[in-house]
Amino acid sequence: TLLQITLALNDFKIQRKRLPDAILIGAKKSGTRALLTFISTHPNVSAADSEIHFFDKYYHLGLDWYKSQMPYSNDNQIVIEKTPKYLVDPKVPQRVFQMNKNIKLIVILRNPVTRAISEFVQSQHRQKRNINNVNEQSKRFVRMLYESKNQNFTIRKNWNIIKNGLYVNHIKNWMEYFPLESFVFINGDNLIQNPHDELEKLQKFLGLKPIIKKENFVLTNQKKGFPCIRLDSQNEEVKCLSDQKGRQHPKIPDNVIKQLQDFYRPYNNELFELIKQEPFWTV
Ligand code: A3P
Repeated sequence: TLLQITLALNDFKIQRKRLPDAILIGAKKSGTRALLTFISTHPNVSAADSEIHFFDKYYHLGLDWYKSQMPYSNDNQIVIEKTPKYLVDPKVPQRVFQMNKNIKLIVILRNPVTRAISEFVQSQHRQKRNINNVNEQSKRFVRMLYESKNQNFTIRKNWNIIKNGLYVNHIKNWMEYFPLESFVFINGDNLIQNPHDELEKLQKFLGLKPIIKKENFVLTNQKKGFPCIRLDSQNEEVKCLSDQKGRQHPKIPDNVIKQLQDFYRPYNNELFELIKQEPFWTV
């Protein structure tokens, strides 16, 4: 009918592009895509699909370019983009602060040991190396993990895959500019186990009506062990993440895992003290 058409046109008109209200800044391989996918199902959220990399890579293109990369949104929506590189790039916090000192910062963190293995597996896929051979992957991970100093083997702290998990160092850079209240910290391990808990926390932080609930999440055969989200409680349609998320991890020897955990422990302890939260994983 004419009325419906008019309403539809109105809807269309109020859609516009604007700078984000919230940014998901990382950490890489902690479940950033899952979190964005899940929160995007909220009607009051409009999220950019791809990673924009404005503050780290395309800053010279200016804020107008950044805005042009944003999704369309209406006045009832908050706009979100995610670029996990932001967390670890020391240039970024000041740039974000200059754009909007009240911006909301979403951080998702998982056990840095699991995170490191996940990033390593991704790097192997990108290099098309040992894709279907987890034994080779495990050996290569261990080979790359250590450096020898005076005949002692120690963990190679400068390896990006290790450095990215030193969360407290990265968060400290951000806290030079933003107070603790600007951040929400989501538990990436729990996002797999109890996604509704983490979505509840995020919806609250973003000031959204808590409509994404436990009954919205389902485990399917399509995505073994990883939750998918029901788009609409009225029907069966679900959204799962792509095959590039939830990859098989190589089995790393127990003693190596233990060394990694010992290595990260002081950083983890300092992190949870800094953000004033109970540890997200056993540190
Ligand atoms: P793995 O593929 O190594 O298991 P990011 O999106 O930040 O790159 O994070 C990818 C990780 O998200 C995956 O790492 C996976 O463990 C995790 N993840 C969390 N929830 C998921 C879900 N519902 N479906 C698929 N992967 C999920």
